[in-house]
Amino acid sequence: MEFLSTWCWCGAVALVSIIIVILSTQISRARYQGTQLPPLVSGAALLALIPTLVKNGMPAVFNHLYAKYGSVFMVSPFGLKMTFLAGPEVTTHFFQGLDSEISHGDLFEFTVPMFGLAIAYAVDSATRNEQKRFHLEALRPSRLAGHVPKMLQEVEGHFGKWGEEGVIDLKLEFERVLMLIASRCFLGKEVRENMFDEITTLFTELGNGMSLGSILFPYLPTPANRRRDRARIRLTEILSEVVESRKRSGRVEEDTLQGLIDSKYKDGRSTSVQEVVGLIISLLFAGKYTSSVASTWTGACLLSHPTFLAAAIEEQEQIAKKYKDGLDYSAVMEMETLHNCIKETLRMHPPALALARKAHTHFTVQTREGKQYEIEPDHPIATLVLVNNNLPYIYKEPQVYDPRRFGPERKEDIALGKLSYMSFGGGRHVCTGEAYAYMQIKLIWSHLLKNFELQLISPFPETDWGNYVAKPKGNLFVRYKRTGSVQSI
Ligand code: HEM
Repeated sequence: MEFLSTWCWCGAVALVSIIIVILSTQISRARYQGTQLPPLVSGAALLALIPTLVKNGMPAVFNHLYAKYGSVFMVSPFGLKMTFLAGPEVTTHFFQGLDSEISHGDLFEFTVPMFGLAIAYAVDSATRNEQKRFHLEALRPSRLAGHVPKMLQEVEGHFGKWGEEGVIDLKLEFERVLMLIASRCFLGKEVRENMFDEITTLFTELGNGMSLGSILFPYLPTPANRRRDRARIRLTEILSEVVESRKRSGRVEEDTLQGLIDSKYKDGRSTSVQEVVGLIISLLFAGKYTSSVASTWTGACLLSHPTFLAAAIEEQEQIAKKYKDGLDYSAVMEMETLHNCIKETLRMHPPALALARKAHTHFTVQTREGKQYEIEPDHPIATLVLVNNNLPYIYKEPQVYDPRRFGPERKEDIALGKLSYMSFGGGRHVCTGEAYAYMQIKLIWSHLLKNFELQLISPFPETDWGNYVAKPKGNLFVRYKRTGSVQSI
């Protein structure tokens, strides 16, 4: 009897559980009544796009899919489902949803072997949010102003070594000068003056962690992953020693590293040495590659558009007259023409082609045409930055390089709200370093425009899509002739 009643109980519990599951599914379905799943791009349709991919690259594929399926669609090659969103109308939740609803999930796992176990995607989201606050604090405008003289010193020192005339590869030049700037502004005097070469080599090795292979298989013991791991261990040793020696001596410097050493969690706990090291490495990474790619694309665009080049030079002449005693933060803020030239470059050549998240709960999106789609949780969702930045109902003649579109008469970047322009992301995870990035790129280009006549020799570069950051393929050779007087002694 007892045996039977136990079975009855178990049966009743199972029945109630099944009813609850069915009801909750129905309720959740009811919430999404009137919506449907996004159109699915079939495997055959994807295969048919391979020639387009080979011939015209990724943007052509995405543009084709957008034209055919609209602003929301799903692909599912080999059963790996992925939803794509394009346009400000459908990306609000993507950018602004709570981390508990939509987040990077495990998509950034590849950063763990790069930045260590104390920060970012190796720690829980509450700690990560506090660490984001440390980054924001370290890059707030009042601190940025203090970086201007240091950036100028590096820029003038570096380009001052060029001869009277010659040919150089701008891409290599920017990589080096941005590493010099980052060493001085982020890592500080000790590193910049005593270990620059070693740190640069280690960062290059660590950068292998951003190749497609390492992003997909971050823990596979490939030669590149092994070099990345060795580089992180050595970098951590060097930077830990710098942090510990400052703490021992009580010495305080005016650099970003110091800002992170002085940061405190809400409960009053100071950042640990491992956290400071991870935070500074991640900041350097987030900023250096993107800025060097942006500076190179800016060169390619400016030097192939004489009208805008002339306008940018003219602006520099005016600013040089006004700030005779040297540039400061206000002068950088006044470089609007140059700013818009860089912004337009980044609209057409965003370093991040797409941004990715994972939804943890269902959500719906409504397209411009009024169609509602249900986006299911637990699979990757990507927003197409490049498609968004070229939408013809936001950007007039999007294929044309025209920095005037951001001027006060047109303001196309905010035509449909903040998410109209996506090169720096948006919402909850918007780029922390946007202002810093503009500042360093403007100071570099301000110096070049004032001191050199430049002529592009390489053809306009194609894009190399095989990396986390979409960079110009090959070299960017430029012929230069010195016209200004700033030279290194
Ligand atoms: C032209 C240069 C740059 C571009 C185009 C760029 C672009 C972006 C984009 C698109 C995101 C959003 C990623 C996402 O939503 O998943 C992002 C995030 C971020 N960027 Fe930048 N970035 C640039 C320069 C910098 C610089 C110079 C720094 C630091 C000094 C920096 C620090 C960061 C950080 C820390 C995040 C993560 C924010 C978060 O997850 O909450 N970036 N950046």
